[in-house]
Amino acid sequence: MYTVRKVTDDLYWVGGNDHRLHLFENIHPIPRGVSYNSYLLMDEKTVLFDTVDWAVCREFLESVALVLDGRDLDYVVINHLEPDHAASLNEVILRYPNVKIISNERAFLMMHQYGFDVDGRQIQVEEGDAMSFGKHEITWVFAPMVHWPEAMVSFDTTNGVLFSADAFGTFGALDGKLFADEVNFDRDWLDDARRYLTNIVGKYGPFIQDLLAKAGTIDIKIIAPLHGPVWRKDLGYFIEKYDKWSRYEPEEEGVLLVYASMYGNTEHAAQSLATKLCERGMTNVHVYDVSSTHVSTLISETFRLSHLVLASVTYNLEIYPVMYNYLHEMKLLNLQNRTVGIIENGTWAPQAAEKMEEFLDGMKIMDVLSGSVSVASSMTDTTDKELDALADAIIESMEKEREIKAKAAREAELKNN
Ligand code: FEO
Repeated sequence: MYTVRKVTDDLYWVGGNDHRLHLFENIHPIPRGVSYNSYLLMDEKTVLFDTVDWAVCREFLESVALVLDGRDLDYVVINHLEPDHAASLNEVILRYPNVKIISNERAFLMMHQYGFDVDGRQIQVEEGDAMSFGKHEITWVFAPMVHWPEAMVSFDTTNGVLFSADAFGTFGALDGKLFADEVNFDRDWLDDARRYLTNIVGKYGPFIQDLLAKAGTIDIKIIAPLHGPVWRKDLGYFIEKYDKWSRYEPEEEGVLLVYASMYGNTEHAAQSLATKLCERGMTNVHVYDVSSTHVSTLISETFRLSHLVLASVTYNLEIYPVMYNYLHEMKLLNLQNRTVGIIENGTWAPQAAEKMEEFLDGMKIMDVLSGSVSVASSMTDTTDKELDALADAIIESMEKEREIKAKAAREAELKNN
């Protein structure tokens, strides 16, 4: 069976794993690789759900031929046209010239843009349309901007399989382990799942919320995404994560401390604050050097944690460029609803604090704590005391947020009784 795996009795994973690609979309590092998932349904008709990236096309075509075992391929459903899933479409058409392509109007327009040979074989579906392929009936739900405008998901109403396109995907190659219950997802996959979602689709949180609302109306038994493991158990665990990320709600109470330091003095201030927070009992503190940490990791960590501290040197009378890039990414991805502390450093004209505050002003619900700390070249007793005050302010804001949450929970309980 080469690398084929059964998802159900008549549904097969025929995708591929890529360990050679270093940068997903030529920008995000993927040290654990990535999978491109494609699924083949063997009903009275044969139906392929999406194809794969060109990098694994040969292996994919072999798997499709193996599962078909001499049968023709009747249909390909294109849920998402991005080339990491659709690049092999023309190769499928060449090998199975009778195949019909099922997708939506916008996707067909893009197929023409990419030069795919789809004329005469198009079956255009609308939201809510359904088709029977024998035992299985598939219905389509449109999911615009999760991740491109043409994206849709396919739902098998017969057995509850949701072909969820990019939604519920993650970085990381499967390496044989197809199901999320075959790995320690929380330990080994969650960080990559968050990094994938927040960096790739994070900007479109409200659209993910729309899809989750639609998904809430159907009885999903299995989630089959285009990247990463298939979910057949404990679906609620991952759906809840997606819900939080797409609402820009932190997963954990904790502090992300990101510093930009040229000679170690700003780093010293950041480390000092981390120590003070731990002394006050807040040990969920994570410190990163913005210059040596990929921005996709910083973004993922920013989505994870409730509090953020930015510590930056002043550079050309501005925010340090790498820190600026991180802030810029954060804004592009629509990140919001965080409490932020600020530390700046400058030897003759410190500007970074003011500039960072201005930047955060242009974002949604970023609560900047008063009393930013200004370091003049290196730490002194005065800055040490200011860092004490900042640590106190962070702890106090956490206590306040806990009180607000507890009050909301009490009110919700009273309402339900
Ligand atoms: Fe995995 Fe938006 O493609």
